[in-house]
Amino acid sequence: MSSTWFKDSVIYQIYPMSFQDSNHDGIGDLNGIRQRLPYLKDLGVDVLWLNPIYKSPNVDNGYDIADYESINPDYGTMADFDALLRDMHEGGMKLLMDLVVNHTSDQHKWFQESKKSKDNPYSDFYVWRDPVDGHEPNNWGSYFSGPAWTYVPERGQYYLHLFAKEQPDLNWENPEVRKHVYDLMKFWLDKGVDGFRMDVINLISKPAGLPDAPQPDGAEYGNVEPLVADGPRLNEFLREMNREVLSKYDVMTVGEMPGSTPEDAIQYTNLDGTELNMVFQFQHVNLGSNDDKRLGKFSDKRIQLPELKEALSRWQVKLDGKGWNSLYWNNHDQPRAVSRFATDDPEYRVRAAKMLGTTLHMMQGTPFIYEGEEIGMTNAHLTKLDEYEDLEVHNLYKQAVEDEKIIDSETLMKYFAARSRDNARTPMQWNDTVYAGFSDVKPWYRLNANYPDINVENALADKNSVYYYYRELIKLRHENEVIRYGDYKLLDAEDAEVFAYERNYKGQKLLVISNFTAKDVVRDYGQTDDAKMLINNYQDKNSVLEFRPYETKVFLIK
Ligand code: NOJ
Repeated sequence: MSSTWFKDSVIYQIYPMSFQDSNHDGIGDLNGIRQRLPYLKDLGVDVLWLNPIYKSPNVDNGYDIADYESINPDYGTMADFDALLRDMHEGGMKLLMDLVVNHTSDQHKWFQESKKSKDNPYSDFYVWRDPVDGHEPNNWGSYFSGPAWTYVPERGQYYLHLFAKEQPDLNWENPEVRKHVYDLMKFWLDKGVDGFRMDVINLISKPAGLPDAPQPDGAEYGNVEPLVADGPRLNEFLREMNREVLSKYDVMTVGEMPGSTPEDAIQYTNLDGTELNMVFQFQHVNLGSNDDKRLGKFSDKRIQLPELKEALSRWQVKLDGKGWNSLYWNNHDQPRAVSRFATDDPEYRVRAAKMLGTTLHMMQGTPFIYEGEEIGMTNAHLTKLDEYEDLEVHNLYKQAVEDEKIIDSETLMKYFAARSRDNARTPMQWNDTVYAGFSDVKPWYRLNANYPDINVENALADKNSVYYYYRELIKLRHENEVIRYGDYKLLDAEDAEVFAYERNYKGQKLLVISNFTAKDVVRDYGQTDDAKMLINNYQDKNSVLEFRPYETKVFLIK
């Protein structure tokens, strides 16, 4: 079945652990999400994507799955899931599940069996290799620091894990593995879910012979991404998955693809519907990474506007008519966008959040809103190591500060504050009561200290809030074909203060102009007083040519 609703939707991402607790254990859950459906319906989103809710030891917050067909008891029961899905469908909303099949948890029964011996039914489900000269089979490093291989004495072999050692990689070369994956996908689709967000799906096809990866200067291990991303059989596997499963249902898919280029993405999202609908690309969110590759993304560099414009515009232009973009600033792996790409200074935060939202939501593609983005939630501004929960932070600290001594603790703490994933994982801020309305007991993770000010209740009480502005952005997209389908042209690529572009569709022109600075600027792209202003983040009007701090204006010109 080929359907295009994925192009017309706005998607809201829920990090279940941190969204809404309903059973007084400090952990968000499915019934909590269910209670908040009216809020999401009022916002106007069409689809919800839930981060993994399956049984998991939570070494990587659910991205280590121990059983694909059962619900993590922290989140509720299968009956709670069915009730949530039913309520969503009755309310006209669709649901995307997170499909994590590059790896499982080491607690999954497939791995528990696989590691026992070389001749059991699951022995070839993972990537096992003999030691080479008594050590790891190649130089690959894990995304979460340390080697990508762990030795298992029972087999006398190493297994591959691109992420934590508790996340062994599945062996996609084995047709039995692929069949098991397709079966579990059908399990959820037969329940009625409307599609999948596919975790690091471009890492599933490993290069033949598993050669060494490029090793940054001074690094102990090789950097796997350039070698493993978009592997030799990826298109084949995705086509098979499409043929065997996806093509039989009316679904939406988005594949998370670190390292992918627009040229890669055109193959995966080609509009004939034989692979996926969209990819999550990383080029704009990887800007400002550290020059010292051993520290990866961790730095406190500010992103320069021309490089940001170039990264986003490249995808807009190259995929037009050939594939389809996903649009995002935030997710559970990224710091909060308003802090990162604009400012969370209280004087400007609300305007800056609206400006960023506008700049992204007026582009071609399907927008994803991450929980809390719609009220302008900010980074947590953590200063101490024990304030972090994420294994990524703790592993890197150990490697870079304690073991290899490549950076001092104070500097690395600044980088963590800027880029840690925990910035996105603090509980949702519903009101100013003691646990922010997220729970009535101490939450599993700390609240952002600014919740008494930045919260949903305050946003709903203020007609000029980020919330109502996002609602308007969503409505405008639903109502205007030029926003959904128009082509894209960047204006003044080198302008380091203003992000301006136009979109054209069937004789209509959309002009989007956003001031990314705290200064007053003037820009003339031919907008006149006669043009219809679709949206603007200031209440009092000024000249159409003038842009106050973080001001954004969108014109519709017929
Ligand atoms: C990407 C997910 O978004 C991230 O949270 C996770 O740690 C890795 N994939 C590994 O599954």
